[in-house]
Amino acid sequence: MEITYLDNAASTWPKPEGVAEAMMEAVRDYGANPGRGGHQLSMKASTIVYKARVKLAQLFSIKNPNDIVFSANATMALNQAIKGYVKPGMHVITTSLEHNSVRRPLEFLKRTAQIDITYIKPSNKTSILDDIAKAVHKDTGLIVVSHASNLLGSILPVAEIGQLAYDNRVPFLVDASQSAGVLTIDVEKMHIDMLAFPGHKGLYGPQGTGGLYINPKIELVPLVHGGTGSQSEAIDQPATRPDRFESGTLNTPGIAGLLAGLEFVLETGVEAIHQKEKKLADKAVERLSSITGIEIIGRNVELERLGVISFTMSGIEANELAYVLDQEYGIAVRAGFHCTPLAHETAGTMETGAVRISFGYFNEEKDVDKLGDALEEIREGYML
Ligand code: ALA
Repeated sequence: MEITYLDNAASTWPKPEGVAEAMMEAVRDYGANPGRGGHQLSMKASTIVYKARVKLAQLFSIKNPNDIVFSANATMALNQAIKGYVKPGMHVITTSLEHNSVRRPLEFLKRTAQIDITYIKPSNKTSILDDIAKAVHKDTGLIVVSHASNLLGSILPVAEIGQLAYDNRVPFLVDASQSAGVLTIDVEKMHIDMLAFPGHKGLYGPQGTGGLYINPKIELVPLVHGGTGSQSEAIDQPATRPDRFESGTLNTPGIAGLLAGLEFVLETGVEAIHQKEKKLADKAVERLSSITGIEIIGRNVELERLGVISFTMSGIEANELAYVLDQEYGIAVRAGFHCTPLAHETAGTMETGAVRISFGYFNEEKDVDKLGDALEEIREGYML
């Protein structure tokens, strides 16, 4: 059965041409350790890793590529940022749309380091900016927001929040898990002090890649200590970046694949990618809205959205609907709670969960038609 892949918010698939080939080459042709030797193969591996850093710097308008550290995924990057920065007793402002990769480290620090957390809930009644401004006080040490919700697709006004954070001299951490490669990100203009991003979503690299940008003014305690291939005689982690935060051998084949993904994104253009996904999402919203029993969730708050849509269907449980779509129609979606109970609470779907569809650059309008036809057929069956 031909697969229609609508789970790009989890990992994009398929990958552009060149990604798998670059990974294969890294393993087959120069599988040496980057930064750990002066020989030709190690230098080749180091060059590929550095090129990926340069492309990331270009994409996010980062001045120094060495302020970007690689990690296994955005979760590791967020843990490094949060646990490396937040001090006991600090007050942190975040939102009710966050993924568990932000919520859990914060709640862990609340239990173990007595930090205070304010969750701002986006609504039409108040402005998110006013709410954040009101929440800032003398102990506020960090503002953390997701650029876009992985459940609802809602885009938060990151540039405006960044300005507010800057004006209040509070460091600003952005979780770009859903937006990197899909929305324009300029860390300078948006006053972003730390930016966590995955490699396997909108940057079209493989799983096992991601990273964190750290503004040179921000001091972080490294999450992981160990060999960096530099200053081996010193007892402490080197102070230089990226080594300070990159202990252990890097995922060179993954980063080689990420480099190919980044080249695709930069050549195609972030805006073109966003517009294509938005067009498909608009079509999907129109089609889903016409099907009796389907309710698209989280639409009550007026925010711009990415190509991520979640919905419930009366009479059929979300996980069962996803199972039927997969098994009977070959349509891959994600159901349940999407590692974001906070956003489900916000959308009022804590009891039911929801089905999520998410578009990537390689989806086409026919995928929306196939989903709509399948849902109509399923609805008929379940309403008999
Ligand atoms: N965070 C990813 C998702 O939303 C895995 O599905």
